[in-house]
Amino acid sequence: MSDSQPHEQGISLQDQALGEMLQGMRDGKHDIKVNGEPVEVIRPLGAGGTKKVFDVALGGNRVALALPNDVDGVIRMKQKWENIMHEPENTNRVRALGIPTNTVCETVPITLNGVPFDALRLTRYEDLPFQVLDGKNRLSTEYAGSVLPEQLDSESFQALFGGIVTDTATLISNGVHLGRDSFNVCVVDNGLRLFLNDLGSARFEPFEPGEIDHVSQQYTISTLDAFVNGLNEEEYQRHKGFLDGKAFEFNNPDKMSVILARAVRQKVTE
Ligand SMILES: Nc1ncnc2c1ncn2[C@@H]1O[C@H](COP(=O)(O)OP(=O)(O)OP(=O)(O)O)[C@@H](O)[C@H]1O
Ligand SMILES: [Mg+2]
Repeated sequence: MSDSQPHEQGISLQDQALGEMLQGMRDGKHDIKVNGEPVEVIRPLGAGGTKKVFDVALGGNRVALALPNDVDGVIRMKQKWENIMHEPENTNRVRALGIPTNTVCETVPITLNGVPFDALRLTRYEDLPFQVLDGKNRLSTEYAGSVLPEQLDSESFQALFGGIVTDTATLISNGVHLGRDSFNVCVVDNGLRLFLNDLGSARFEPFEPGEIDHVSQQYTISTLDAFVNGLNEEEYQRHKGFLDGKAFEFNNPDKMSVILARAVRQKVTE
C-alpha cells in the first residue's frame, strides 16, 4: 500500500499529509518553517536509517536539525520517530553521568513541506567543545590533529582507551542499556572518550551480575567499531596493521577487545 492512499481507504488525513511531506523530501524539497518563519537549510550533515540531519540557520544560530529520513513509509517513520522523541530525556540522563553527549538535544515544532512535525534540534558536531569522530560517517570527521601515537601497540592502545574504559564502566554501573548505534568516540583534552548520541532507544535498568561480562564485551566492540570507522584515512592507513590484527577477534586472549572488555568488567565489579 502506498502512503498516499485516499482517506476513504482507511488512511487518516494526518497520515496522508505526512506521506506527502515524505514524498516532497524524496523530491528534494525541504521547506522548513518555525513559527511561520522560513528556516534556511545550509547543507546536509549526514543521514542514517531514521534521520536526515541538516545544518540550518535557526533563530540566528546554526544548529543541526534532524528530520525523518524519507526512505520509510508513514507507518514506519512514525514508529521510529516516536523513539526519537525520547532522545532529549535520554541524552540528559547520560550527560548527567558525566559522559560526553550533544550539549543541546531538544524537540522543535516545525512545519516540513507545509505539514506540522516535531523535529530534533542538536548541537552541530563542529560546535561541540570536543572533537567528534563520527563513527557512521568517516568523511565528516575533520581533524585538528591526530591524538594517536605514531605507533600503536597493546600498551599504548590501552593507555589511549583509558577514558573510554572508565566511561563504559560508568554506563554499565548505572544500568544504561544501549544499542551499537549510540557509540561514537570523541577527543577531550587530547584523550579519547565516549561520545553518545542517537539515544532514542536507550533504557535505564540495572544489569544483572550475570550480564556484566556480555555487556562489557558488546560495548567494547561497539566502541572499537566506531573508533575505527571514525578515523580519518591517513590514521586508518597508518594503523591498519595493528587494528586489523588486534582489535576485533574475540577468541584470542591477546585481542584488544578482550583486554579492554576485561578492564571494563574489573571497574564495574570493583
Ligand atoms: N549533531 C550533529 N552534527 C553533525 N552531524 C550530525 C549530528 N547528528 C547526526 N549527524 C550526522 O547524521 C548521521 C545520522 O545521525 P544519527 O546517527 O543520529 O541518525 P540515525 O538515522 O539514527 O542513524 P542510524 O540508522 O545509523 O542509527 C550521523 O552519522 C552524522 O553523520
Ligand atoms: Mg539510529
